[in-house]
Amino acid sequence: MTASSSSTELYPDTKEAVATVREHTDRSPEIALVLGSGLGDLAEAAEDTVHIATTDIPGYPHSTVAGHAGELVFGEIEGVSVVFVRGRVHLYEGHPVRAVSFPIRLVRALGAKRLMVTNAAGGINPRCTPGTLMFITDHINFAFANPLVGPNDPGGPRFPDMSAPYDPEWVDRAEALALANGIPTERGTYLWTRGPSYETKAEIQAYKYLGGDAVGMSTVPEVIQAQHAGMQVIGISTITNLAAGLGHEYLDHDDVLEVGKSIRNTLEQLVRLILKDLAADRQ
Ligand code: HPA
Repeated sequence: MTASSSSTELYPDTKEAVATVREHTDRSPEIALVLGSGLGDLAEAAEDTVHIATTDIPGYPHSTVAGHAGELVFGEIEGVSVVFVRGRVHLYEGHPVRAVSFPIRLVRALGAKRLMVTNAAGGINPRCTPGTLMFITDHINFAFANPLVGPNDPGGPRFPDMSAPYDPEWVDRAEALALANGIPTERGTYLWTRGPSYETKAEIQAYKYLGGDAVGMSTVPEVIQAQHAGMQVIGISTITNLAAGLGHEYLDHDDVLEVGKSIRNTLEQLVRLILKDLAADRQ
């Protein structure tokens, strides 16, 4: 089956959206990138781009968060055909979880078989201090919402395996690349909370005992959807703050954006290395 022709059958609710995107571009991106708070500017560096405002895409949920511009950006980076999902939506905005994962069904229907997700997260593990880049190796769904609830889409199994949603080999490769290029990284488990309030100190203590290394308000529904769709996933958290009670300060979204900005260049370098490696692997 070609990705562009019949793949909307996999995710029927993307049919009109795919038709609209196809009025702008016939590209089948190799990888979709969903970049988190304050981390979205890599799309600016893409070449040969096609921009589509998400407000023009039928069925696409609308972001209400500052710092989350809504558009799909198709382009080339490091020789790889990519689509950036700029302006992810979150459960805390009031969207149903099916809407939160809509962009993933859409990029899959457009042909992407890989997904890279980044997010801003609070550090729980003492190794995860502000400025750390953490490869996500597993997650805990503490929002208890699942985008696969409802009739099963033909795009994947009713009961998808979740024992390795973040491709372990890809993480190994990316970690080795980071190391070889002098970029320090950590690995850990990302715990998803619904938000929008940050956590209490007691909650963070509880999450620590549960095995969370970092906490945040995104990513997990997208990864569950991607796993259903058989996509290979890599996830990177940028630790923007110590989680509640582990530092001295109140948590402020502006600080989260500020720290995000300061590690943006390093994250961008890492993302480029990972893309370059994909291109090299193909040859
Ligand atoms: N908690 C939840 N989400 C976050 C945090 C946090 O401390 N930092 C960035 N996103």
